[in-house]
Amino acid sequence: MELIICKDYEEMSRKAASLAADSVRQNPRALLSFPGGDTPLGMVHAFADLVNAGEVDISKARYVSLDEWVGLSDTDEGSCGLFNRTELLGRLQKPFLDAHIIDGAAKDIEAERKALDAYIARYGPLDVSVLGIGMNGHLGFNEDGVDFGLHAHIIPLSDVTKKVMTKYFGEKCHPEYGISQGIAQIMAAKKVVLIANGAHKADILAQAVRGEVTNRVPASVLQNHPNCFVVADEAAAAKL
Ligand code: GLP
Repeated sequence: MELIICKDYEEMSRKAASLAADSVRQNPRALLSFPGGDTPLGMVHAFADLVNAGEVDISKARYVSLDEWVGLSDTDEGSCGLFNRTELLGRLQKPFLDAHIIDGAAKDIEAERKALDAYIARYGPLDVSVLGIGMNGHLGFNEDGVDFGLHAHIIPLSDVTKKVMTKYFGEKCHPEYGISQGIAQIMAAKKVVLIANGAHKADILAQAVRGEVTNRVPASVLQNHPNCFVVADEAAAAKL
């Protein structure tokens, strides 16, 4: 793991965006994946800025979303799909060749899971997987206790995630499951960029980076990734 400590959220966002852009410069036909949540907002905006300024050409690259709340579609407030469509795809003046956004509200969620696997199998492996870290150490919806061998899967949300999720959609909905790329797909990525900001992430980030590799803290698996960057602001990196 290469640790990159940034002075603040803006620097973290720019650094992560530039690492993602480098992957496209290395392989114009790259497959990229970014997370949902609060952490990546600045990063996806910075990435879109690079694209719009002509500093990276994504016209041959593809994008796949990381995860979604089961029951939520890309029009639902707080969904990862809406985040992807508005904060990333909608800002791009020159779009990706193609983008696959998980539909958590699909009637046949098993078919949706298979479609995610098929998309990554066809265009992957991921050239770059940017990830956030949950308060329980989850990556995407690879919750604590997850099987590291899984590809795309549907998984019950942990109690910690259920508590935290009210920040995205209040009491309006109560998802019980997540659909997510699996650790096997994340670990097969040519580059992984884990981003974290804020003092509330300091403990879990330290467990992931310095603690034992265990599925109790899924992000700890990244210690075994050959090309992983941890990009954190000073507050999140305080206990490293
Ligand atoms: C969410 C998402 C993850 C995200 C993580 C951290 O529930 N499923 O993809 O990385 O939890 O979210 P945040 O950035 O809001 O702290």
